[in-house]
Amino acid sequence: MAAIEAPEFDLLDHRMFAEREPWDVFAWLQEHAPVYRHPEPDGDGFWCVTTYDDVLHVLKQATLFSSQVGGSARIGAVEPDVLEARRNFMETDPPLHSEWRRPFARDFTPKSIARYTDQLRGIVDGVLDEAFEKQDICWVHDVAALIPIRVLGTLLGLPESQWDRFIELGDRMIIDSDPEIAKYVVGSPEAEAYKYLPFGSEAAAELCAMGRETIDRRRAEPEDDVLSILATMEIGGCPLGDRDLDNNFALFVVAGNETTRQSMALGLLALLRDERAMAEFSAPGGVTPQSVDELVRIASPVWHFRRTATADTELHGVEIKEGERVVVWFAAANRDPSAFPDPHRLDFTRKKDEHLAFGRGGPHYCIGTHLARLEIQVLYEQLFPRLKSIEQTGPERRLVSNFTNGLKEFPVRITAR
Ligand code: HEM
Repeated sequence: MAAIEAPEFDLLDHRMFAEREPWDVFAWLQEHAPVYRHPEPDGDGFWCVTTYDDVLHVLKQATLFSSQVGGSARIGAVEPDVLEARRNFMETDPPLHSEWRRPFARDFTPKSIARYTDQLRGIVDGVLDEAFEKQDICWVHDVAALIPIRVLGTLLGLPESQWDRFIELGDRMIIDSDPEIAKYVVGSPEAEAYKYLPFGSEAAAELCAMGRETIDRRRAEPEDDVLSILATMEIGGCPLGDRDLDNNFALFVVAGNETTRQSMALGLLALLRDERAMAEFSAPGGVTPQSVDELVRIASPVWHFRRTATADTELHGVEIKEGERVVVWFAAANRDPSAFPDPHRLDFTRKKDEHLAFGRGGPHYCIGTHLARLEIQVLYEQLFPRLKSIEQTGPERRLVSNFTNGLKEFPVRITAR
């Protein structure tokens, strides 16, 4: 039998993701090695799971494929004391995870999120006013980056006087592998000094101190916002310590910011590359929960999350041993042709809630799903009636990151009607 020619790839190479979206690599893996042992220079390698069915299987078996044992946000092995110091509730397994998530969940239901709609429209309109004024803008910096963080400020209940600083610190925490964005790139000696802080970020101390001011006020006088829940909740019958407060405050800031920003950025890029889809989406009545969901599938701002096997098991006929790392590639699964025929095409007739961009299937299913969808929906609902034309005016530049699928520059010209 002839050997199968594998494309050359290294999914640990952040720069590759800056140069291109490696759909050819994922297509090859899905066809020839759906559960693939990826080598790594300083370890024994990790499993890459790329098909829709397999990713869903891993997400559903949340205790067999644990988020708690080795963490969920890094492919590489994390030192145990660092993991403990930085653990947020996303890096816990059921039943502990359920105890954490339950109090927040009620604040993120569609009904609960709907109460922010008017404020959201105000935020989006303000951002668009300035963008239309400028005309030549960077869609990432001038539009997509501004909305999610302002929404988070509202949702968390931070005072507006702190927002500018909040936005700057939130941004600095996010992409730690891109030297143009991070102050200290992950793995550098400088970054090492901050490894015990939330997300290992130099910006975390100031950001969390800002959160703590509001948390202290909410503890004395709870209001109807997410930080009041964090301030007053108990785990195992005990109020939260400082570390838990900081780590989980930082989780909301990081999880709700860059992901939504990139759905807005990559979504527009996909629309501008496909005249038919843009015409359908921008037509009256074209922006619907279903079409927005398809935009999120195509965008898929999260490349992967990681799990650790807690027992020997088998996946797609491949033996996985207890303790081995299993990396689920969400964006690849969302372009798996066996789940999404003609997967690189925007097709607004696809069924809603099928894709895995929000980690559907398991207990960690994104708590901000409804909020993110509403933000994207409101952005386009407010944009299209004002828009005469929109065109890309220069090449987009991609993030240096194998974790966040996204853009850092996206020049466009927008003209008002
Ligand atoms: C398009 C935007 C978004 C995408 C693509 C996205 C994606 C995801 C994914 C894939 C997970 C699952 C992680 C895992 O399985 O380990 C997740 C979890 C989470 N997301 Fe989102 N997210 C988005 C927006 C938001 C927003 C707006 C918020 C909050 C305001 C948020 C907060 C969270 C939190 C707290 C978790 C942890 C949930 C848990 O472990 O139970 N996300 N998100």
